[in-house]
Amino acid sequence: MKNKIDIKSRLHNLIINRETDYANNIYKNPVKEYIDPKRDCKEKDVLFKNAPVCIGIASEIPNKGDWFTLELIDTPILVVRKNIKEISAYLNICTHRGAKIALNKGKKAHSFKCPYHSWIYNLEGKLIGRPRDNAFNTIEKNECNLKELNIHNHNGFLWLTLNKKSNKKYNNNIKNLNLMLKNYNLNNYYFYKSKKININMNWKLATDTFLELYHINSLHDETLSPIIMSDTALFDSFGSNIRIIGPRISALNSKKLFKTDKEFKTHTIQIITLFPNTVLVIHPEHVEVWHILPGNKENESEVTLSLFSKEEAKTKSAKKHWDNNFNLAINVVQEEDFPLGEDIQKGFYADPNRDLIFGKNEPGLQHFHKKINQALKQG
Ligand code: FES
Ligand SMILES: [Fe+2]
Repeated sequence: MKNKIDIKSRLHNLIINRETDYANNIYKNPVKEYIDPKRDCKEKDVLFKNAPVCIGIASEIPNKGDWFTLELIDTPILVVRKNIKEISAYLNICTHRGAKIALNKGKKAHSFKCPYHSWIYNLEGKLIGRPRDNAFNTIEKNECNLKELNIHNHNGFLWLTLNKKSNKKYNNNIKNLNLMLKNYNLNNYYFYKSKKININMNWKLATDTFLELYHINSLHDETLSPIIMSDTALFDSFGSNIRIIGPRISALNSKKLFKTDKEFKTHTIQIITLFPNTVLVIHPEHVEVWHILPGNKENESEVTLSLFSKEEAKTKSAKKHWDNNFNLAINVVQEEDFPLGEDIQKGFYADPNRDLIFGKNEPGLQHFHKKINQALKQG
């Protein structure tokens, strides 16, 4: 029923009544789910190896030959822009003896040379150079190309599907993505900068950070509380994906509250979770993209923040502006959310047989964990 009412009117009503969207019931989430190594292995297998994962944003590699690498659980991946339109992903494993052919990221490469014995691959992943070629003359070069992986560019979001099962799940999710992201094509944004941090928290606990606005006035009383309204938010789900929209404080002073789409964007913050591990925080002029990956152990994860702006940062003042936005985002999370989260993770081991309680006013958290459990059951 609520989905039939325009989101502008829904949010307007929440603000007027100082209310928030509710789940039907409270939800108890066992602490064990954050600390059980067996469960961690299963999540990695089901949610990351056998399901589509958003691994990056196309506009981070805007020019031919731009590339980045990542480890998706234990799979090393190289993502390369082959030309204006096409991006490819390869196993970042040399076909000679298995060294990684690229580390970190870079710009405008013409080819990739393996550091071990200098085999060279072009942007298409084809082997084009092999020192002392005659020593390998019974194996054709074209039998030694990099292994290509399936990558899909949906509105600038790069989704990797490592197998058929995962491909099918991706296709089933497209309708949800279209509906949820119809106003957000990240191909039209400019990459500004990114930062990777390693934390001692389960990947789900790190993601939980972004799934409710109930804690704004309490934990972020000096940083975000003057900007965003606490515990007032729309909640909608699109399959397993989640959209939370909260009003900015500026909305309280706006006379023509949410009359137009522009007004709505100016006075809100939208938090979109691309299930399972990518969170977009959408501001009027820029988007924060948070990628959260499980670490080696169940209490470790790797979090990367990347900022994408609507306008390219060409001037000093533009750079200062985006630096301020980037620093606010990373500092709040790194200095306020994650230290508290790391303490929560430690506390899990002290009393592992209890539950966390997700209130009716935390529907995003409830949906996220229900969908994870559903996915694990389906395998
Ligand atoms: S392992 Fe790459 S060239 Fe030998
Ligand atoms: Fe927070």
